[in-house]
Amino acid sequence: PPIGQMFNLSDFESVAKQTLTPGAWAYYSSGADDEISLRENHNSYLRIFFRPRVLVDVKDVSTATTMLGVPTAAPFYITATALAKLGHPDGELSIARGAGNENIIQMISTLASCSFDDITGAALPGQSQWFQLYLNPDRSISRKMVEACEKAPSIKGIFLTVDAPQLGKREKDMRLKFDDDADAIVKKGDGDKIDRSQGATRALSSFIDMQVTWKDIDALKKSTNLPIVIKGIQRYEDVILAVEHGVDAVVLSNHGGRQLDYALSPLEVLAETMPELRKRQLDDKIEVYIDGGVRRGTDVIKALCLGAKGVGLGRPFLYANSSYGEDGVIRAIQVLKEEMDVAMRLMGVNRIEELNESFLDMKAFHGR
Ligand code: FNR
Repeated sequence: PPIGQMFNLSDFESVAKQTLTPGAWAYYSSGADDEISLRENHNSYLRIFFRPRVLVDVKDVSTATTMLGVPTAAPFYITATALAKLGHPDGELSIARGAGNENIIQMISTLASCSFDDITGAALPGQSQWFQLYLNPDRSISRKMVEACEKAPSIKGIFLTVDAPQLGKREKDMRLKFDDDADAIVKKGDGDKIDRSQGATRALSSFIDMQVTWKDIDALKKSTNLPIVIKGIQRYEDVILAVEHGVDAVVLSNHGGRQLDYALSPLEVLAETMPELRKRQLDDKIEVYIDGGVRRGTDVIKALCLGAKGVGLGRPFLYANSSYGEDGVIRAIQVLKEEMDVAMRLMGVNRIEELNESFLDMKAFHGR
């Protein structure tokens, strides 16, 4: 269908389901085990309702804000996902261009299917990107990646993913094995050591170290002046530890339900984390981000009301990019931004900083 008929992010998902190869659809859409966390990531948003203000002048609404000190058109970002080329020949490059066009931040995966230099090279002057790091068992490889980040003018932060010491059991993906498409795309280093027998997911896991600990956080923090963010925190105690280790931000995430099934939805973790940070007067010491299951402008606003600084989306942008390339990425951003504009006006809010918990009714959320 023409792109003008994409009215929300689910429309892109429907098109992607019909047009992606079975292998690509399985890799993108799957969650771990019974996909309970995958489902809950989104469903937890359905349990929060709004308490709007009326009789407020809302002519001049704006979603602009900053994340890690960088200006952005809206408080959502395109999070790191591997293998964008499985869906579109331009892979991460069209995502970079779409993001740049709309002044939205893109996080580049360690397992991207285009090269780091090409993706950062696709950035417009002044465009900001983040880099998602998996620590390699061979730390000299990781060190080189950090050095490359420091040299790339677009890179404004490094996100270390910590929820994947072992990759989750994604059965849709395993059933399809590792097809030739994916094989051609995975070109990261030691191809000979890849185990192709259990799906794309398992094949990629050989690049990820199982022995990453807080010591590595300290070492990473010391090794660079770029902001360091831990991605994949799943309980408030680890957020407190992150503050103690001096990291700049955390992403509450269960990897889009692809790792530990029955991991709490990040929205639930956010709701338990912010009061604990405030109690200890640590809430201004660290920025808290969240990803997983965000599909509407109202979802972004709910997370922000609960104290998130920004919100990441993964699959929706893979789907938009797969079907329509750069134009799809642009359209998806615009759709989400327009949904935010509408919701903010209808809530009596003009600025992102005005959002707070008083706008939420949490009875159904806490009644779970
Ligand atoms: C991911 N995710 C991910 N995370 C990461 O740190 N490095 C990676 O390489 C990938 N790769 C990846 C591939 C695919 C196909 C998906 C769907 C996800 C997790 C991602 O960053 C994010 O946590 C989730 O995608 C958020 O959930 P939603 O928005 O997809 O529901």
